[in-house]
Amino acid sequence: MPLPKAELHLHIEGTLEPELAFALAARNGVELPYADTEALREAYRFEDLQSFLNLYYELMAVLRTEQDFADLADAYLARAAAQGVRHAEIFFDPQAHLARGVAMGTVVEGLWRALGRSEERHGVSTRLIMCFLRDESAESALATLEAARPYLDRITGVGLDSAEVGHPPVKFREVYDAAAALGLRRVAHAGEEGPPEYVTEALDVLGVERVDHGLRCMEDPALVERLVRDRVPLTLCPLSNVRLRAVDTLADHPLPAMLDAGLLCTVNSDDPAYFGGYADDNFAAVGTVLGLSRDRLRELARNSFLASFLEDDEDRRARYLAEVDAYEFGDTVA
Ligand code: HPA
Ligand code: ZN
Repeated sequence: MPLPKAELHLHIEGTLEPELAFALAARNGVELPYADTEALREAYRFEDLQSFLNLYYELMAVLRTEQDFADLADAYLARAAAQGVRHAEIFFDPQAHLARGVAMGTVVEGLWRALGRSEERHGVSTRLIMCFLRDESAESALATLEAARPYLDRITGVGLDSAEVGHPPVKFREVYDAAAALGLRRVAHAGEEGPPEYVTEALDVLGVERVDHGLRCMEDPALVERLVRDRVPLTLCPLSNVRLRAVDTLADHPLPAMLDAGLLCTVNSDDPAYFGGYADDNFAAVGTVLGLSRDRLRELARNSFLASFLEDDEDRRARYLAEVDAYEFGDTVA
């Protein structure tokens, strides 16, 4: 049994496995420019974030109906459960679907078909976080928040993703203010490819409560000190960082140094269908390659629940933390 954990950085569109992509393409009469799943997997060699995003947006063409989104989310939740995920806070990218003529209601209600039954079917509690695409305009983000209004009872928070460099957090001040006024929680990708200043700006201007990635904070000691002092969680994604070349190899990943610095780190899978592993695959990789001790792995699992948006269900958080504390590692783990 894998270590119980929460997954806090997971793009549902990034869980689209090649087999499901081809099945949905056939169901919807969508032509994919790849001969088969093998040929598609061959395309999973990325130079950087943008080269991944190009494929990520291209494959979304197969997602058209509520049932497609339900099938996508249900497949993820089944895999996540098998990897010890007990709670998942799931990103989705509505602008990428609205632009293709797929309505907000189709996306949210489709995802909800799976999320609403997730506890009963998979034993995984869930939250939904709606992301704005930072390479789209601030006006488009505001229109997206407006389009989501009928569905806000299903949405816990807002996030910011897609191409980072050249799209600083300040561009989205207004929509984050509006989201806060609606009672939504706030997170943002920052410091993945962008500079540490974007992390500072996400905190100061957008009021984020968690930073997604945040890797490059390590270049700014004063920022690290602030993140430690204020207990700001970082949602790290080690296998993603290797595949998108934020680090040269997993052995070069700064996670051990970040933990030593006292940062509240969590380990997540980002876009697992593309990056070679789900939540526990990321835990196993950092455990073996970075030589993290069992205590460190348990700390990462505890952090995931401490950093999760479970303020409306503290009893559940306490139960999950007790599960982590009671967990007994098998002989195969370092
Ligand atoms: N970074 C930014 N945008 C994204 C990512 C990511 O890792 N995955 C999906 N959209
Ligand atoms: Zn991400």
